[in-house]
Amino acid sequence: MQPRIVVTRRIPDPALELLARAGKMWLSPHDRPLTRTELQRSVSGADALVTLLHDRVDGPLLDAAGPQLRCVANVAVGYDNIDVAAATERGVVVTNTPGVLTDATADLAMALILAVTRRLGDGERLLRARIPWSWHMFFMLGTGLQGKTLGVIGLGAIGQATARRARAFGMNIAYTSRRPAPREVEAELGGARRLPLDELLSTADVVTIHVPLSPNTHHLIDAERLRQMRPEAYLINTARGPIVDERALARALKTQELAGAGLDVFEREPEIDPELLELDNVVLVPHLGSATVETRTAMAVLAAQNVIAVLRRERPPTPINPEVLDPAGAPAPGA
Ligand code: DGY
Repeated sequence: MQPRIVVTRRIPDPALELLARAGKMWLSPHDRPLTRTELQRSVSGADALVTLLHDRVDGPLLDAAGPQLRCVANVAVGYDNIDVAAATERGVVVTNTPGVLTDATADLAMALILAVTRRLGDGERLLRARIPWSWHMFFMLGTGLQGKTLGVIGLGAIGQATARRARAFGMNIAYTSRRPAPREVEAELGGARRLPLDELLSTADVVTIHVPLSPNTHHLIDAERLRQMRPEAYLINTARGPIVDERALARALKTQELAGAGLDVFEREPEIDPELLELDNVVLVPHLGSATVETRTAMAVLAAQNVIAVLRRERPPTPINPEVLDPAGAPAPGA
């Protein structure tokens, strides 16, 4: 019997074509996230799920799929929407899409740094509001990046790629990380310095977040941590919204305890704190980190390759819980 593959929302065609050849594919007909009830119904009897970051995959959902479920392939590098322990308990392989979105996300982080420090949003709003203006020496002054310090929270692949871009703009790099980066990475980043978080926050001119969301990083940047930042500093978040206490950030921006922020992600997506929407010193974009045709296609194809490998009992390219796989790389018996 052909395996049933459930795709919870449309993904690029090359990936759909691969999945359609690999089994009996069901693709959600809706151009929106499925409701919990719809999700529970649609996963029933599935051998593999292709999920997006708005789908909550937990124990009850895995049970609604049934014991034949072998794989959940998230089309994202982040997988905070998935209860990986619950999947592992049930012998379900979970995969994500690291690597293919590194450059696109780092590009967006750099774009936000430039947009907020050079006041691109302010300028655009002024022109679109048809407000009269003329060039003068003090008109819409921003902040230069040369010689300033970028503080990178989490020097993984995306953090490093963002730091590399910042180097090209003349910035010095400081970072926090559980482990020191390899010497050659620090050297390539112009002698990047590893600092404790408090020191990084109190010294950096721009702080950019590149850690995954987990219970340890929820509200990592809260009111107290925001107070540690310099009033001339900027905060950039392209990782996950709940890492920052959005309400506290809005207050800090409003009272100018912080010069500005660039946000691609929000605490309660797609909602945005109404106070943030009123502020000029924050650049807001709707979770666009990986939003290029090339990157989204590569993410979806990688997710499809993960599904296909698991269904063939081969090692998937990017498993999150490899302990479910047997030493030869195939899903363990019963998985
Ligand atoms: C991810 O892959 O986790 C991104 O947030 C999606 O763009």
